[in-house]
Amino acid sequence: MLCLQNPDRMLFSRDHRILVTGASSGIGRAIALRCNALGATVIANGREENRLREAREQAANAEAFALEALDLTSDMEALPKWVTRLRERYGKLGGFVHAAGLGLTAPLLMYNLEEAGKLFDIHVHAPMLLAKGFADRRNTIGKGAAMLFMGSSGAVIPQRAKLVYASAKGAQITAARCLAKELAPRGIRVNSISPALVETPMLEGFRTMLGEESFTAEKEQYPFGLGQPEDVAALACFLLSEESRWITGQNIIMDGGRY
Ligand SMILES: NC(=O)c1ccc[n+]([C@@H]2O[C@H](COP(=O)([O-])OP(=O)(O)OC[C@H]3O[C@@H](n4cnc5c(N)ncnc54)[C@H](OP(=O)(O)O)[C@@H]3O)[C@@H](O)[C@H]2O)c1
Repeated sequence: MLCLQNPDRMLFSRDHRILVTGASSGIGRAIALRCNALGATVIANGREENRLREAREQAANAEAFALEALDLTSDMEALPKWVTRLRERYGKLGGFVHAAGLGLTAPLLMYNLEEAGKLFDIHVHAPMLLAKGFADRRNTIGKGAAMLFMGSSGAVIPQRAKLVYASAKGAQITAARCLAKELAPRGIRVNSISPALVETPMLEGFRTMLGEESFTAEKEQYPFGLGQPEDVAALACFLLSEESRWITGQNIIMDGGRY
């Protein structure tokens, strides 16, 4: 797999346009930057324009790094049309990565509908409505297009106090598998990556919640250390590219040997 070993090799052409949500931070930012460095035009989404600008400052090809700030949960019904507007502005899309997300560590006693609703909105409803817009024949290149969803190892390996987050991720992963079946006849592939702990701003919230001692004990369970956003980005680019043309409907766990 040359692409994983040699980041200088161009995996994408400039007219391969990839919409990346969560591109202002952490894993999404690393994926957006790597896709851009490997030749793609990236349409970077996050809520905050300033953070998106910071991401673009790190881009290898800043002229092919477009910024589209939008809160994806503010008007979810409008998301398919938003994707159509992106196609009108930039051209047909070849890739869609959903890396926007919110973390939540809370036991059953703290279950509350409003908070659970927010998690299901950003991890299930918004990405499916974006997928609906992406899958529209007018918006995508069709054969050769790929979608990628950021799951979580917690969806597969149960953890305490993660029931809402893990359920939302589980729903997203299952939805992605269904999409893979539905879109295979059109040559569109759909996969998920499920990382364990990756060092991003989201992890800081988890660290604070656990406390330093428990966090250090958890970290020691990783024989290859905690993940870095770039570790996930390397696999993401492979899954978005033609090099993975025989892979669809999968959920790939990346956990540095933790489980
Ligand atoms: N870090 C980990 O250990 C880990 C492990 C497994 C899975 N994951 C998953 O990987 C994905 C990325 O996580 P991360 O660690 O990179 O988190 P992060 O650094 O906190 O980044 C989260 C991103 O989501 C965006 N976002 C959140 N709500 C949004 C909304 N309503 N509309 C648009 N954008 C929104 C944020 O944009 P702004 O803040 O700019 O608005 C930010 O770009 C998430 O789905 C997360 O659940 C993370």
